[in-house]
Amino acid sequence: MVDKSHNKMKNYNYKKKILSKKNCVSVVGLGYVGLPLSLLLSKKDKVIGIDVDKKKVSTLNSNESYLERIDNSKIREFNNKKNIFCSDFSKLEDSDFIIICVPTPLKKNNTPDLSFIKNAISKIKPYLKKGQAIVLESTSYPGTTHDQIVKNLNKNFKVGEEIFVGFSSERIDPGRNDNKIKKIPKVVSGHSRHCLEIISKFYQKHFTKIFKADSIVIAEFSKLLENIYRSVNIGFVNEMKMIADKMGIDVFKIIEAANTKPYGFRRFFPGPGIGGHCIPIDPLYLNFAAKKFGYDSKFVKLSSDVNFKTTKFVADKVISFVNKNNIKFSSVKILFLGLAYKKNLDDYRESASLKLFDLLRKKGIKKMKFYDPHFKNGSVPKKVFLVKKLSPKSLFHYDLVILMTDHDCFDYKFINKNSKKIIDCRGKFSVSKKVIRG
Ligand SMILES: NC(=O)c1ccc[n+]([C@@H]2O[C@H](COP(=O)([O-])OP(=O)(O)OC[C@H]3O[C@@H](n4cnc5c(N)ncnc54)[C@H](O)[C@@H]3O)[C@@H](O)[C@H]2O)c1
Repeated sequence: MVDKSHNKMKNYNYKKKILSKKNCVSVVGLGYVGLPLSLLLSKKDKVIGIDVDKKKVSTLNSNESYLERIDNSKIREFNNKKNIFCSDFSKLEDSDFIIICVPTPLKKNNTPDLSFIKNAISKIKPYLKKGQAIVLESTSYPGTTHDQIVKNLNKNFKVGEEIFVGFSSERIDPGRNDNKIKKIPKVVSGHSRHCLEIISKFYQKHFTKIFKADSIVIAEFSKLLENIYRSVNIGFVNEMKMIADKMGIDVFKIIEAANTKPYGFRRFFPGPGIGGHCIPIDPLYLNFAAKKFGYDSKFVKLSSDVNFKTTKFVADKVISFVNKNNIKFSSVKILFLGLAYKKNLDDYRESASLKLFDLLRKKGIKKMKFYDPHFKNGSVPKKVFLVKKLSPKSLFHYDLVILMTDHDCFDYKFINKNSKKIIDCRGKFSVSKKVIRG
């Protein structure tokens, strides 16, 4: 017979151990999510940041940041306080909390690729011991934490009694420095009551506000709902743009008028298509999970389709410009303003600029360059040629300038004055003889 009072006493001791001192926390995956999280946690706890990418680790150990939005001084401060950046998973042994922030991309067939989570768990597992808590922060479909972590660890531990598991979504708003992660309410969840108690106490220490979800699947699903809400609304407004364009009406003027309604309307802006690690991917994660439950989600998938169609819409605008002006596809000179998928960011993952570039290249357009001060040569894909500086002469050299990303650092007046023709996908310029919407 199981001695319940003994078990109760055991996990009471674990809880006490975890919650009564300065904790040691390991963050696995030091990317756009894991690095800022490590810096935040290091304010109150000892942090071990682990990444398989040795180059990243070595950069961080040289007190250098590889993310534009994080100052070198913050990395130095982290290192000076005896925190650790490394690729050595055996360091996990000393951790009270292990937080997983590895990528969750799509496979070639657009289904979830959980290989990074699986790989991280297999590397973590040999160093796990009783009393530790593991939290997944990578975005995935409901059931992932249970299937990949709880089920896996249940073979060696009593999850919820000897080892504690939960999920907490990451809500970092890339490119917005005013929205410090500490102040973004944190959704937390746990496999059991004890797990939730331990994990929520931990996050409470670091975040201004936490929300305790009733279960892990609720927390996992809520992250997808938040991102699909954006995908659907962006898809919707992109479709409005394409309809308005057919009618010869400026969609940005329509939005401006609609936005005067004081209730029941929230403004979203159209663009050249979606990008980043979340909005293009998360609808497909939910779609995959819904199918397993026998539900073929039309609405969710439609938003992905419309958003992709939007990039094609911009490509068609370019092609029609080239044809109208009798320029050869092989000789037309195009400048993309913005490589990043979102304003004020040094992140080109799934960027609409790269998708448009590929669509145009397939049509035989070759003379395409990019201007984006958020990137340096070497930090961009090989096929991308970055222009370092814009002068009146260099701008006038291009037959067409396409505003893809509305970075604050662009001098829009200067661009408007010195370009021959602009396709504006962001509503930064007024429509004129020179400027058309894209
Ligand atoms: N970028 C965002 O703004 C954002 C926002 C919310 C949620 N998310 C989610 O957070 C997760 C991480 O995203 P990201 O943008 O930080 O990704 P990223 O690609 O920037 O960083 C992931 C890091 O994990 C490392 N890594 C991969 N496998 C590893 C392993 N087995 N062990 C240790 N390290 C490993 C990689 O080298 C990389 O440095 C994803 O699930 C993403 O959907 C991202």
